[in-house]
Amino acid sequence: MARLVIVSNRVAVPEDGSKAVAAGGLAVAVKEAFTAYEGLWFGWSGNVVEDPSTEPTVIDRGRVQYAVVDLSPQDHREYYSGFANRALWPIMHYRLGLGAFSRSDYAGYQRVNRTFARTLARLIEPDDLIWVHDYHLLPLASELRGLGIANPIGYFHHIPWPAADVFNTLPASTDLLRAIADYDLIGLQTDPDVHNLSRNLIDELRAIPLGGGSLMVDGRRTRIRSFPIGIDVAGFKEAAENAGANKTVRETMAGLRTRKLLIGVDRLDYSKGVPERMEAVERFFASNPDQRGNVVYIQITPKSRTEVQEYEELSREVNETVGEINGSLGEPNWTPIQYVTKAYPRPVLAGLYRAARVGLVTPMRDGMNLVAKEYVVAQSDEDPGVLVLSKFAGAARQLPEALLVNPYDRFEVAEAIRTALYMPRSERLERWKPMVERMTREDVDWWARNFLSDLENFRTIEREPPRT
Ligand code: G6P
Repeated sequence: MARLVIVSNRVAVPEDGSKAVAAGGLAVAVKEAFTAYEGLWFGWSGNVVEDPSTEPTVIDRGRVQYAVVDLSPQDHREYYSGFANRALWPIMHYRLGLGAFSRSDYAGYQRVNRTFARTLARLIEPDDLIWVHDYHLLPLASELRGLGIANPIGYFHHIPWPAADVFNTLPASTDLLRAIADYDLIGLQTDPDVHNLSRNLIDELRAIPLGGGSLMVDGRRTRIRSFPIGIDVAGFKEAAENAGANKTVRETMAGLRTRKLLIGVDRLDYSKGVPERMEAVERFFASNPDQRGNVVYIQITPKSRTEVQEYEELSREVNETVGEINGSLGEPNWTPIQYVTKAYPRPVLAGLYRAARVGLVTPMRDGMNLVAKEYVVAQSDEDPGVLVLSKFAGAARQLPEALLVNPYDRFEVAEAIRTALYMPRSERLERWKPMVERMTREDVDWWARNFLSDLENFRTIEREPPRT
């Protein structure tokens, strides 16, 4: 079998014997998809050092080799915190008001992509399939092609691809559209994302549609398709079934006594709608005073990108919101919102999902959202809970039996919480069954297999000589 080379900004190097919790959906999903392949995973080490070496650190872990590089403080500031997370992230999530474009950040983003390409090119073998992940690395294929790499190169975008009028507000938008067309295959989470990017390429770069998702852009052929990312269903189910043995889960459940549990699990990110969700829960208690004392909401929110100003402000906002709601509604023997910023490993999360009558997944915008899928899979077939899901999460397209809500409307979310809490078991089962069956069919292996078999087809396509 050909070697698979994965490239992503964040690399989940398994530390022997460690229980480290990987941050974010990408690292978790790619790690799980990779278990079936042999190959190399290349990216940032997570370390920031003065004068980083251009030689990667290579770590062997059985069938998978990890090659990681450090970033300088300037690279980290401009490429990662700056352009990737203060310009691309908000715009891809439709948050124009939060976007902060700076020319020096963009130059840093291009520079790091060029350095990554130079380091990676030395590790590539002629038969390798190259699979690049996420918005940090949009120009990577373009840089690799410039160095003469002719292997099939695929790209998967884990976050939303916005409508052209939103994306094109980014001063570097045309550059980035040109660069992305250097990938052979571009995978997006949903069909609307595919539509947005394809239309943009057609309108801005005069790309010619060739049918079946293929486009000719500047004389090069690329293909755009949706591949909704899945989860490790077998592993998650097993973790949920065995979670009773876990001390944190046992003690949390004992602490609940007869109270019903609402759960939310998200990285602390403005795209996740955490303060808005808390206000919806407050609304729920305001209009259902008989439920005060009977329902507890646990929100688990590990901190993220703390060096970025908007994340720091969000952290303050959430702290204030929790304080205000608990202060005004709480009683000495009842705290409505339990807010924790620690990251928990899978056995704990799976157990808490299973114990929760309602899973609250209400992002303002999300590429997919794997928590929604994990919550569904963690439920017992005896007495499943109810998923309240934002219609602006990619997952809503595969989970239409959830209670779909508009996260901007806290009255609607409050009403859905009430419906979920009162929903009879028969209806809960009826909604849950098709969802868990779909999640089982469309799991993380299905996602990786589909993408890679499509990418394999590009071996047979004749290539143009590299651009100089
Ligand atoms: C999202 C992104 C990933 C990213 C993760 C965590 O899931 O799609 O690319 O790795 O968030 O964010 P961080 O900035 O910590 O890598």
